[in-house]
Amino acid sequence: MTTHQPASASRPAQDTRRQTPASPRIALVTGASAGFGHAISAALCRDGWTVVGAARRADRLNAIRQELGPNFHPLELDVTSDTSVAHAVAHMAAHFPDGPDLLVNNAGLALGVGPAQHADMQDWERMILTNALGLSRMVHHFLPGMITRGRGHVINIGSTAGNYAYPGGNVYGGTKAFVKQFSRGLKADLHGTPVRVTNIEPGLVGGTEFSLVRLHGDEAKATAVYKDANALLPEDVAEAVVWAASQPPRVNISTIELMPVTQSLAGTRVYRG
Ligand SMILES: NC(=O)c1ccc[n+]([C@@H]2O[C@H](COP(=O)([O-])OP(=O)(O)OC[C@H]3O[C@@H](n4cnc5c(N)ncnc54)[C@H](OP(=O)(O)O)[C@@H]3O)[C@@H](O)[C@H]2O)c1
Repeated sequence: MTTHQPASASRPAQDTRRQTPASPRIALVTGASAGFGHAISAALCRDGWTVVGAARRADRLNAIRQELGPNFHPLELDVTSDTSVAHAVAHMAAHFPDGPDLLVNNAGLALGVGPAQHADMQDWERMILTNALGLSRMVHHFLPGMITRGRGHVINIGSTAGNYAYPGGNVYGGTKAFVKQFSRGLKADLHGTPVRVTNIEPGLVGGTEFSLVRLHGDEAKATAVYKDANALLPEDVAEAVVWAASQPPRVNISTIELMPVTQSLAGTRVYRG
């Protein structure tokens, strides 16, 4: 006679969901000098990670080191420069030869809110160079080491702008659609390896420099973007990153799309001339 055991009997008694690293694991976070990158670095440090926080503004990174302590290591990096990324690779090899276990490709920006027909070509170039080419360059340099070490996780910061078109989103949305499809392609290429890939796609998030950069320093307009919107906070995105990174090794979180409750999809429009 077969005895049926309750489903729980085949499971370990303790909660194995969250995998806080037993020994310090190494995360490389780009765009760590502000916004999401700062919050992601703080959350990972709290979760026991050693974080190399990279961005162009060394002074900002050094201030974050004062705030987060010795588990945060500043690294000057411009993802649009091959020389700068090669320097980062050499720095990681010299100081953190066992890492990174986690690469968070967060550095990115939007420039301009106008329609495509009025856009500045230099803005378009910079978005493509940073959000698409810069992100690809980081993956190109750091992915082979993850495969050699037999562990790794690439978390890309995409955007709802890559999923849904909106007026003025044009090339920014295009770069984030690239991030989405590139993430899917990476997952396909990594078939049979233990390396994980996640794309995190936030909607409207306040408390960062994003809109100030997008609106070329116009503080009044940047503030108005978030007025009464109850937007997400950088900490909400950081929580998604830490959650995806702390899953058991068998789990690959492919996509997380998060929006504030106040944000929804408007559907298509009809212009009545
Ligand atoms: N805020 C939102 O509503 C929102 C929503 C969805 C997705 N996102 C995406 O989330 C990411 C972070 O945005 P955020 O809101 O935190 O913006 P943010 O506050 O402006 O931060 C952007 C970060 O990227 C860094 N960065 C920009 N260009 C870089 C480069 N060439 N090399 C290295 N670092 C560079 C900046 O540092 P330095 O200037 O010091 O280099 C800064 O640390 C971006 O990819 C953005 O597209 C934002």
